[in-house]
Amino acid sequence: MRVLVTGGAGFIGSHVVDALLEEGHEVVVVDDLSSGREENLNPACRFYRLDICSPELERIFRGERIELVNHHAAQIDVRRSVASPQEDARINIQGLLNLLSNCLRYGVKGFIFASSGGVVYGEPAELPVREEHPKGPLSPYGVSKLSSEYYLHYYARVHGLPYIALRYGNIYGPRQDPHGEAGVVAIFGQKMLKGETPTIYGDGEQLRDYVYVGDVVQANLLALQRLIRGSSFSSADYLDAAAYNIGTGRGTSVNELFRLLKGITGYNGEAVYGPERAGELKKIYLHASKASRELGWQPQVHLEEGLRRTVEHLAGKGTGHLRCIAAGCRARPD
Ligand SMILES: NC(=O)c1ccc[n+]([C@@H]2O[C@H](COP(=O)([O-])OP(=O)(O)OC[C@H]3O[C@@H](n4cnc5c(N)ncnc54)[C@H](O)[C@@H]3O)[C@@H](O)[C@H]2O)c1
Repeated sequence: MRVLVTGGAGFIGSHVVDALLEEGHEVVVVDDLSSGREENLNPACRFYRLDICSPELERIFRGERIELVNHHAAQIDVRRSVASPQEDARINIQGLLNLLSNCLRYGVKGFIFASSGGVVYGEPAELPVREEHPKGPLSPYGVSKLSSEYYLHYYARVHGLPYIALRYGNIYGPRQDPHGEAGVVAIFGQKMLKGETPTIYGDGEQLRDYVYVGDVVQANLLALQRLIRGSSFSSADYLDAAAYNIGTGRGTSVNELFRLLKGITGYNGEAVYGPERAGELKKIYLHASKASRELGWQPQVHLEEGLRRTVEHLAGKGTGHLRCIAAGCRARPD
């Protein structure tokens, strides 16, 4: 199939691109490189440096005859979304609508959306959280992810565009930006390798569901297969029918993550504790039995193993050593 991957120069999107190419698909990437990096780009894809909000997008749909869209481009920073909800909505909502109108115009057969299980539910009443749990996003970023699902649901019901929304947990792995605002594994790992002290905000007991990027790639491949097989999503009668939590069902505290990374990196200092971040959830981890049942997806990479691969990647940066050749991460050495 000819797949358009938006955000294909970013952390998760670039791994998805590699895997799609490996599976024999043709891949077109649209990315404005605002947080993605050119060196993440697989040379076998066709790359357009473009904002997903641009009217130029139509030229790509027309010229490339796109059959399926895998949408990973986004403004991903929760705090930036709080500072500027307008800018978050411009990229995450208007960008999505630009893609969707082109999907209809050019007969695209399916759409995979990178949603977030970490933000659409708000502070959950039950753990692990299931897809049907009431929604209550607590940031503009969360609102834009949930709204995107509603738009997709509308395009499916009314215009017949099949889709799957993958609600990711906290994804980590090689190529995550250690200089970004999000991505505690990459930030801590990088600091600890340099012997610098990481900061834990709050008491460190907040629980998150950490999922290795190779497992997320697998979820994307399975979602694509399901869309190709053609199922009932175009008539999905409620929002959660086309949504899948992608998580391990297990919560890990930031303190535990720090302890594991300490062992792997050989860092012998302690962490410092900073003030709790406003609006941060206490606990969230995801029930992924629906993805297991309907997509055949299960996480394969245990947290310690995934952390080890990530640290190896971080350690290899700039030294000419191992970059990303850990088995199963599906990444090229870059
Ligand atoms: N990393 C996580 O833990 C996580 C969790 C839940 C959901 N997600 C979602 O997964 C997707 C990928 O996240 P990531 O962690 O790989 O982030 P990332 O920042 O590495 O990737 C996002 C990519 O989108 C590109 N981009 C941003 N705005 C764009 C625009 N206007 N036009 C074109 N390209 C644009 C960036 O340059 C980057 O390459 C996002 O949609 C994010 O919301 C990520």
